[in-house]
Amino acid sequence: MKRTKVIDLLARRDFGADVLVKGWVRTRRGSKAVSFIALNDGSTIKNVQIVADSDRFDEELMKQITTGACISVNGKIVESIGSGQAVEVHADNIELLGACPADYPMQKKGQSFEYMRQYAHMRLRTNTFGAVMRIRHNMAIAIHKFFHERGFFYFNTPLITASDCEGAGQMFQVTTLDLNRIAKSGKVDYDDDFFGKPASLTVSGQLEGELGATALGAIYTFGPTFRAENSNTPRHLSEFWMIEPEISFMDLDELMELEEDFIKYCVRWALENCADDLEFLNNMIDKGLVERLKSVVDTEFVHLPYTKGIEILQQAIRDGHKFEFPCEWGDDLASEHERFLVEEYFRKPVIMTNYPKAIKAFYMKIDAEKPVCNGKVMEETVQGTDVLFPQIGEIIGGSVREENYDKLMGEIKSRNIPMKDMWWYLDTRKFGSCPHAGFGLGFERLILFVTGMQNIRDVIPFPRTPRTAEF
Ligand code: 4AD
Ligand code: MG
Repeated sequence: MKRTKVIDLLARRDFGADVLVKGWVRTRRGSKAVSFIALNDGSTIKNVQIVADSDRFDEELMKQITTGACISVNGKIVESIGSGQAVEVHADNIELLGACPADYPMQKKGQSFEYMRQYAHMRLRTNTFGAVMRIRHNMAIAIHKFFHERGFFYFNTPLITASDCEGAGQMFQVTTLDLNRIAKSGKVDYDDDFFGKPASLTVSGQLEGELGATALGAIYTFGPTFRAENSNTPRHLSEFWMIEPEISFMDLDELMELEEDFIKYCVRWALENCADDLEFLNNMIDKGLVERLKSVVDTEFVHLPYTKGIEILQQAIRDGHKFEFPCEWGDDLASEHERFLVEEYFRKPVIMTNYPKAIKAFYMKIDAEKPVCNGKVMEETVQGTDVLFPQIGEIIGGSVREENYDKLMGEIKSRNIPMKDMWWYLDTRKFGSCPHAGFGLGFERLILFVTGMQNIRDVIPFPRTPRTAEF
């Protein structure tokens, strides 16, 4: 007989039919005469209740049906009165596929997420991580659908690269050189290295994405990115997934529209396709979750130039609001500033634009005019956009790209970016240059928002952070 998944079984109403289910025991309760086994197979957050009459089963077998054990059950679909579901299974035969001894780390309910992180290889079997991982899958599907429906091409950029896209010097080096031997000899010869020159894991697929966009019109990447920044925060991973669309002939307004449509599409998809998992997370993790998701789908995001944001923050300070960090024009906003704007001042997502050139990457298009802040003319700004979200902070970073060869060269030179690594990128501006724009969405930051989870380590199966790469 073919196995029926729990999700399909719970939708059936053909009472009396024979069925085969397999899964892991969540709980077992009952009396001497009868056992009620809650069985989960990962296909849904919901369990199916298995009713097992003790006189039909071997006592030794029943003893081994403990939380975490894996079993296979043949039985009949019956209408359920008490289990909270419409159907349950009356067991005819139970086979133990894998016993689960008492030292099973996920034995107890209600363990902290810190505890569970130590058992990242086993935490996937819990309700919370099951829900998060199913939502994560659904978000990936939504992302591909969104772009496919709009004629974007899925474009794969290399993970091993020689260029530091963001220029922040946070790259993991990739080498086959023997570090111990180098330490002894005291010198490094990259001629002997695998690629014949220094290479690293990519921090962003954008630069190669631009090559795709200026040929195919509109592309998106969706892959892992690596950053060796030593920031131990609930928002940073050393290995995270990023979605990077890049579009020819797009200006700043169209870019903001795309960013907003994209996030709303993903959130709406979750509301429509992950209702059971969201309901569980809403009950167990974050009582405001579903409300917050709905409100994002229904609100228009605020468009806020950086300079205006600074004026608002400085006014708030004059009105007595206390911030830990200063906020002068030219400073990178701290997360307390972003949160103030998003959660207190506007109370909705904010797309901040036109940042000071000095705090953004070299590739952003320079604005034609300098901004005026509190009556004074400031330094040059660029057409960068950060999408700031309640609870999360920055969820998207993007920009219109500088398409003018000479202006781009000027930035590369003034920032001392090694030219020899950039020649291929500059060719886009040399041969048929076109205006274009794009952004990067941090996949795990999106999952944080959609699940209501608090720590980015809990929305990726196997988190990579400083000093952690166990599982
Ligand atoms: O703002 P970032 O650094 O932008 C770029 O990498 C551009 N090249 C994107 C583009 O224009 N194509 O990163 C983009 C997003 C951030 O907004 C954030 O959501 C996420 O990536 N991100 C991280 N997520 C988890 N852990 C980290 N260490 C992250 N760093 C950035
Ligand atoms: Mg950024």
